[in-house]
Amino acid sequence: MQAIAQSHPNIALIKYWGKRDAVKNLPAVDSLSLTLGGLWTNMKVGFSSNFNRDELLINGVKDEPNLSRVSQCLDLVVGKNRDFARIESECNFPISAGLASSSSSFSALVVAANMAINKKSDIQLFAAQAGSISGSAARSLMGGIVELTNTSNTIKIKQLSKAKRWPLSVVIAITDKNKKSISSSRAMNLSSRSSPFYSAWIENQSPDMKEARLAVINKDFEKLAAVSEHNCLKMHSVMWTTKPSVVYWNAATLNCMHALRDLQQSGESVFFTMDAGPQIKAVCLPENEARIEKRLAEIDGVVSIMKSGLGGAPSSDISL
Ligand code: DP6
Repeated sequence: MQAIAQSHPNIALIKYWGKRDAVKNLPAVDSLSLTLGGLWTNMKVGFSSNFNRDELLINGVKDEPNLSRVSQCLDLVVGKNRDFARIESECNFPISAGLASSSSSFSALVVAANMAINKKSDIQLFAAQAGSISGSAARSLMGGIVELTNTSNTIKIKQLSKAKRWPLSVVIAITDKNKKSISSSRAMNLSSRSSPFYSAWIENQSPDMKEARLAVINKDFEKLAAVSEHNCLKMHSVMWTTKPSVVYWNAATLNCMHALRDLQQSGESVFFTMDAGPQIKAVCLPENEARIEKRLAEIDGVVSIMKSGLGGAPSSDISL
């Protein structure tokens, strides 16, 4: 009763922020994301009647803080009367730092756990399971450009573009590798209760989704850039106006944004997006990647750069 899966994190261009049902963890808005092929989480899950508790190792180190959420995910997939499990996770990027590590981790966990108990692959079921633990994780069940939509009591994911059809690049400027001060789950619940902009955020999501979907279908980079930056800044405005305010950016985040705006002025095809952390993700065309990387690396406070193309769905063709 053991299986291994690899999954990639995804970053949203049209963001999920807020829940319509906190118990089922259903998102309040639809979202659209890019699956990053260069970043990954490998997850090994083994169940045994000889274990007397669940045990989680992240990059070889025993981890307690994340264990309850992992156990909850296994209960959901396998059932509460299951054997205990040993879960080993390896990740090639900083975790809990706004780089969507929960999306790759929980999607990989759902795939590995289902495989370990010999369940037939069912992407929409896996997405619903992953999403009920971490909303963004559902989108990592597919590669390329993915949209997540709300249906009456669940979610649906759909691939809008295969990775190869529109091979975008993402240059990530890491400005702080530490764990974020407040989890996105907690922060978005606070936002829904206290930001005066929250209702406007929810109301204006469908036009952004429509515009982004059309831009992807037409491979219209400029249109995708405009709607993605707008949507990102709207989400951060909701965060900033939450009580107490949630500000994930640091000085380098803002300096990177200005640098990318300058590059846009000089004709580079690039746009930024940021999530629940201070890292900047610059989405560009592959031919612009080297210049974007060089410029971001020069900025004070940028501690490292990661690059990624778009990637595929989770795979089980790996070893750990
Ligand atoms: C800012 O998926 O981490 O990255 O469902 O509570 O686990 P939970 O939240 P999570 O939130 C992601 C928020 C975001 C935007 C996005 O990925 O769409």
